[in-house]
Amino acid sequence: MKFSVVAIVSLLSSALAHPEVLSHREIERRSAISKRCEATAAHFNRKRVAKRMAKRWAGAGNTTYQIQAEAPYYNSIQNDTCVLTPTVTGGPYIWPNSQTLRQDMSEKQPGVPLWLDIGVLDVNTCEPLPNVLVNLWHCNATGSYSSFTGRSPNTPFEQLLEELGVDIEDLINGNFDLHTDDTTFLRGMWPTNAEGMMEMKTTFPGFYVERAIHIHVQVYTDWTLRENGTVSSGNAVSTGQLFFDEDLSSQIMALEPYSSHVEIERTLNSVDTIFTGATNGYNPIMSVVPADGADYTNGVIGYITVGVDPTGNSAGGGPSGPPPS
Ligand SMILES: *[C@@H]1O[C@H](CO)[C@@H](O)[C@H](O)[C@H]1NC(C)=O
Ligand SMILES: *[C@@H]1O[C@H](CO)[C@@H](O)[C@H](O)[C@H]1NC(C)=O
Ligand SMILES: *[C@@H]1O[C@H](CO)[C@@H](O)[C@H](O)[C@H]1NC(C)=O
Ligand SMILES: *[C@@H]1O[C@H](CO)[C@@H](O)[C@H](O)[C@H]1NC(C)=O
Repeated sequence: MKFSVVAIVSLLSSALAHPEVLSHREIERRSAISKRCEATAAHFNRKRVAKRMAKRWAGAGNTTYQIQAEAPYYNSIQNDTCVLTPTVTGGPYIWPNSQTLRQDMSEKQPGVPLWLDIGVLDVNTCEPLPNVLVNLWHCNATGSYSSFTGRSPNTPFEQLLEELGVDIEDLINGNFDLHTDDTTFLRGMWPTNAEGMMEMKTTFPGFYVERAIHIHVQVYTDWTLRENGTVSSGNAVSTGQLFFDEDLSSQIMALEPYSSHVEIERTLNSVDTIFTGATNGYNPIMSVVPADGADYTNGVIGYITVGVDPTGNSAGGGPSGPPPS
């Protein structure tokens, strides 16, 4: 029995929840790309921060404390690039029919406000990629994904399938999907601007069983939308997951409503299989600053530069099919 559970878990690991165990060669490759693009990424990040500062400066009607915050902003922003690959899967909670075009996907989900500031670089040229669609989704403060609200965030995946009497093969082949409804909270997409940047307002994610806190990200270079703002066809050239530093996560998880999630233990980055595979050679951790310049628990701005290969073609779940194809 033990053996079969292990077998299912490892099948899930490679096919669904966990994208891949990176080979030494792949880690080296990403590391080299990240290093090669470092100078551009640093410049790019400073530009994004400066732009946001200017915006807040204009919006606040009071210049004083914004300028004081400028120096620490620069130092806390990472200069390396989070290199995504074309081959990673989107995981079991990918649901393109609920991903809509908007810049605020929070839908009043309770928790700490989070502004994602994402820059996209072409890893072949290290240049910013304008007009690519950045697709984001993550769970709410107590671990639930929209469109899957009928699924408990506390039930281990293999147990869930057993309860449903569903064969893992059916899920992989798309003969069964786990979605339960059409809710759309914490799912959204927006294209990068002429300078390769995009922003999304959301709510800081909580956690669900067996996974560290993370945000799914997918990049399309070519897409068409339906009238309701979802993708009707497109090419996901990159799929990946973004993480947060454990110090920040513990600070936020201590607050309500995150702290009400007591049914399961939170999985740390250090034991998350995707994270551990992801950290050698490139950096999937968001650089963060407190939105008010003082206190993370009032709101967080997260910056990351994502490196994609626009010529790649993702095997990470198509735009309209059930997970994962
Ligand atoms: C502007 O900031 C200064 C310094 O923090 C503060 O003393 C002042 O009250 C603020 N003014 C407004 C209108 O918020
Ligand atoms: C990023 O680069 C800038 C200048 O190139 C530097 O001032 C800053 O300290 C670097 N940040 C990190 C986190 O290394
Ligand atoms: C958008 O339209 C598609 C096709 O009719 C539908 O399947 C999907 O649920 C809709 N999504 C939203 C968010 O309205
Ligand atoms: C997260 O979503 C689930 C499913 O909709 C909901 O029951 C739960 O209350 C939400 N969590 C919070 C903190 O609102």
